[in-house]
Amino acid sequence: MSCSSTQVGIIGAGPAGLVLSHLLHLEGIDSVILESRTRAEVESTVRAGVLEHGTVELLKAIGAGDRMQREGAEHRGVYFRFGGETHRIDFGEHTGRSIMLYAQHEVIKDLIALRLATGGTIHFGAKASTFAGLDTAKPSIRFTASGDENELTCDYVVGCDGYHGVVRPAFPRERKEFAHTFPFGWLGILVEAPPSSDELIYAHHDRGFALVSTRSPTVQRMYLQCDPHDDLAQWSDDRIWAELHTRLETKDGWKPKTGRLLQKSIVAMRSFVTEPMQHGRLFLAGDAAHIVPPTGAKGLNLAVADVQVLARGLAEFYRSGRTDPLAGYSATALRRVWQAQHFSCWMTSMFHRVPDADPFQQRLQLAQLGHVCSSPAATRALAECYVGLFGP
Ligand code: APR
Ligand code: PHB
Repeated sequence: MSCSSTQVGIIGAGPAGLVLSHLLHLEGIDSVILESRTRAEVESTVRAGVLEHGTVELLKAIGAGDRMQREGAEHRGVYFRFGGETHRIDFGEHTGRSIMLYAQHEVIKDLIALRLATGGTIHFGAKASTFAGLDTAKPSIRFTASGDENELTCDYVVGCDGYHGVVRPAFPRERKEFAHTFPFGWLGILVEAPPSSDELIYAHHDRGFALVSTRSPTVQRMYLQCDPHDDLAQWSDDRIWAELHTRLETKDGWKPKTGRLLQKSIVAMRSFVTEPMQHGRLFLAGDAAHIVPPTGAKGLNLAVADVQVLARGLAEFYRSGRTDPLAGYSATALRRVWQAQHFSCWMTSMFHRVPDADPFQQRLQLAQLGHVCSSPAATRALAECYVGLFGP
């Protein structure tokens, strides 16, 4: 077994692990990232692409924003479509902020390049499995890489290892879990076509939710609500386009621009939170601690918000020896997590067709959408959450 050591051992090279490692580096703190997948796999996994104002500002501040600013698209609003009509939520007018459309895997590429260029250590193909010395001041992570057993000893272990990771199961059984599974999924497509809209379109329709998003001037991202148990084989390209046309059409004949499908996949939708997000020298951040349904695209943004709080706590500890900011990590991070959880569930419940919902519930959805789009106070409340201005 080969042994090594660092100050902070990070499991997972997703947005949480990469941003944390770089924030620590900027504070002069050493870390090592263990990532079970290859660099190519990590850099090519298709995920969401909406960056909140605060995420954009952080990426710029840490030196990871150059390509995002060149290639990403700033959006100052979003469209809500229901009852055959389109309403715009103006982020600028209501919050003075905007969002950035820039795919998560592009953020990942930029962060990996930055980490490596600044001397960071990322072990790809390194799968963490068990821990030792969790009750001591020097916990260690056992991991396999290229068939060899290794041990990384550190001061703190951070699980940025996603929902299926190994750090959360190492917490004591008394931790609390809050979970909700939605009775629908999203079928997502990547299509080779010019943008259909200058801003995202969230559409409510009797046949179910649809979303028009974008990736670049030549590649678009669209989603439609489906049964989470559907087989992709049931969704021919023709069927996908027919549904998108029906769910998105407006009285003035607007249609999404079609093209060659580059990728299609089905994602289930669920909410999950574990409390607390820390135990002794173990911490959780990002999807390892919480999952949100994708309506509102908060996953990446929450991961980045978590590690900002954690990095501040770790920096204070290494600077002064004070542990109280670190002790407050979970409580601070969970406040935002629950606000984002509420927003994501609110968006989900307004737009999706609930199987077997009665007409009364459907009318309530339309009433709520009407209120959000017509009352300046309600519009502002939604816009604040969308751009990431959560309350205390
Ligand atoms: N050892 C090493 N790496 C692991 C292990 C393990 N045992 N288990 C999981 N990982 C790695 C995964 O391969 C993955 O690359 O941890 C990483 C976790 O990254 P993400 O799933 O991207 O999670 P996170 O960084 O929290 O990012 C937030 O929220 O809604 C989503 O799309 C959003 O992916 C984003 C996520
Ligand atoms: C995306 O572009 O992938 C996306 C956009 C908005 C969402 C979810 C996903 O709410």
